[in-house]
Amino acid sequence: MFNMYNRRYTGSKYKLMEWIRNLILDNCKGKSFLDLFAGTGVVTEFMLNDYKDYIINDFLYSNEVIYKGFLLQESYDMNKLMKIVESYNSINRAELDENYVSINFGNKYFNSYDAKLIGKIREELEKDVKENKINNKEYYILLSSLLFSIDKIANTCGHYDAYRKIDNIESRFKYDLILPKKLNENQTIEIYREDSNELSKKIKADIAFIDPPYNSRQYSRFYHILENITKWEKPELYGTALKPKEENMSEYCKTSAPKIFEDLINNLNVKYIVVTYNNTYNSKSSSSKNKITLKEILEILEKKGKTKIFDKPYKFFNAGKTDFKNHKEYVFITKVEK
Ligand SMILES: C[S@@+](CC[C@H](N)C(=O)[O-])C[C@H]1O[C@@H](n2cnc3c(N)ncnc32)[C@H](O)[C@@H]1O
Repeated sequence: MFNMYNRRYTGSKYKLMEWIRNLILDNCKGKSFLDLFAGTGVVTEFMLNDYKDYIINDFLYSNEVIYKGFLLQESYDMNKLMKIVESYNSINRAELDENYVSINFGNKYFNSYDAKLIGKIREELEKDVKENKINNKEYYILLSSLLFSIDKIANTCGHYDAYRKIDNIESRFKYDLILPKKLNENQTIEIYREDSNELSKKIKADIAFIDPPYNSRQYSRFYHILENITKWEKPELYGTALKPKEENMSEYCKTSAPKIFEDLINNLNVKYIVVTYNNTYNSKSSSSKNKITLKEILEILEKKGKTKIFDKPYKFFNAGKTDFKNHKEYVFITKVEK
């Protein structure tokens, strides 16, 4: 069974969470925690015993479904889900008809028979929820389980900017379930799929965790297959990477990033702001260069209150050949005064 951290996701804070959690617990006080650029959701997951109320947000459709699969506190029947998954795994995938996934991604991102089964499962999930054979929570569990199962075997180096050019991709797909999380009775969670700057104007919390993209690499383009399979609108695809038309292009990946970041910080209604960032702006590859400098972050945060900075050398997931010497991860913690 999959946990939230069983994902290949660029910028995931999973390996840093013990350090980050201790910094937050030592320097911030409060009962509610806001994870505004939540990505995999591992930050919230790691802090699930520490607060009463949680708000989790990311503008990607696949991430929203994954948060609902793991964290939405609604009822589901695990035995029923296990039987459904077992029945899909016993299908003879070679005999299935071609479908959107096999036609577009077969022999590229997935083995062609695996692709048929992935497309078949996705189509059936949509039918099953419409016909009330599964409830909403069961749908989110089964769909996020499909996303995790796909991600585990995709013929890529971790994201979907390209697939590996190999003949005969091995059939490796197995449909496995995620393991949903149970909160305590007094705990609450709100799940959003919104632009962070818009959402920040509408909500409030004690502690905000801010982990925006660091460079020009757009998450919606990196994870387009997970987005496509989640939305299931079967769009036309372009280029060798088979991406749909652009959407959710983040301002944090553009030169406007410092202004957008300042706007966000000014609109936050919180007592503490925790920002993580890394110093990739020294790197030679232009797509890996930081869009906001550490100096800019500090200046913006200092306008809101006293800010402490912590750092840690960190080797992070990088698909290309970029050379990250002296790579460091930074955590800024601001006690809001103004
Ligand atoms: C560095 S990752 C976060 C990683 C996360 N903390 C984790 O540990 O998995 C940045 C996230 O911000 C999201 N994002 C980028 N721009 C956004 C925006 N304007 N509004 C909401 N989410 C955004 C991306 O989809 C991506 O998941």
